[in-house]
Amino acid sequence: MKLKLLEKYKDFLPISSNTPMISLGEGFTPLVKTKHLGEMFGIDLYLKYEGTNPTGSFKDRGMVMAIAKAIEEGAKSVICASTGNTSASAAAYAAAFDLKAVVVIPAGKIAMGKLAQAMIYGAKVVQVDGNFDDCLKMVKKVSEEYPVVLVNSLNPNRLEGQKTAAFEIVDTLKKAPDYHFLPVGNAGNITAYWMGYTQYHKASKISSLPKMMGFQAEGAAPIVRGHVVEKPETIATAIRIGNPASWKKAERARDESNGVIDMVSDEEILQAQKLIASKEGIFCEPASASSVAGVIKMAKKGIFKGGECVVATLTGNGLKDPNAVLNEVPEISTIPNDLSALVKEVGF
Ligand code: F0G
Repeated sequence: MKLKLLEKYKDFLPISSNTPMISLGEGFTPLVKTKHLGEMFGIDLYLKYEGTNPTGSFKDRGMVMAIAKAIEEGAKSVICASTGNTSASAAAYAAAFDLKAVVVIPAGKIAMGKLAQAMIYGAKVVQVDGNFDDCLKMVKKVSEEYPVVLVNSLNPNRLEGQKTAAFEIVDTLKKAPDYHFLPVGNAGNITAYWMGYTQYHKASKISSLPKMMGFQAEGAAPIVRGHVVEKPETIATAIRIGNPASWKKAERARDESNGVIDMVSDEEILQAQKLIASKEGIFCEPASASSVAGVIKMAKKGIFKGGECVVATLTGNGLKDPNAVLNEVPEISTIPNDLSALVKEVGF
């Protein structure tokens, strides 16, 4: 049987003899060496594709740890605010391991696939007439006052689990990359990766550390702008966040690694999403593509000298948000039910 993520990295995780070693098959995701994109920029570009996790996003790495600890502590229910992926993941792990899940989401701003996931896994889904930041404020308060465990990334076990992606990258490359590009929303993941890299460095598994390169969407870029964005807007709904919970920690990761937190436009995000699919055969959701949009932006700026090892994380599966694509595609031609019409249409 395949090794479980919690078992593989137990020496680096907050695991005791009482922690249940649960799994839905998370982690062990592919690190794909790009066939075309890296060459375009003269770098060795790898994509860490997190869309193959059980619920289709990187959240499962953190959720398995958070749910294991919640069970260990005797919890009966968990709660989270979400732009979609955290809620899908919390709902799945709660369903499988006999906890009640309450997920609180901004009304009308969740990609269709993610909403379907939370529903089918049987979570109590509540929509708020507000944005993610409003939802997070509420669930935080509820978890302080009622017997329910918060499984947003404010829960340190979430970041502990998520750092395993950095371990996997190093275990595959046998070194740290020179640069690591990530989308930034609530800023937990960039924090978690930095924890992972620095822990492996301390354990002498790597002799260098990557520069952490975080990318927010232009309409939801509080860290870049240096102030809370009251009304965040972006097509990348997963990172439509105006007041990230791990703001300071992400800044620390940036500064300690000599990295950058910058922003990309919705247009750049959609172009990158299309490029990743059409050049590499990988379909990621819009928020995920902001990492590669960041690589493109930095390449244009001339930061690469040539031959650098660069990893970009693709955080979620494109199938979660088909509308983001279908709203953009040109009209599809319809032909009569006739072979010659097909031959003509294709241009053989
Ligand atoms: N990419 C995707 C696909 C996400 O779902 C998220 C966050 C991020 C990137 C950003 O990661 O928040 O750690 O900086 N989604 C959260 C959610 C907020 O509720 O699913 P971050």
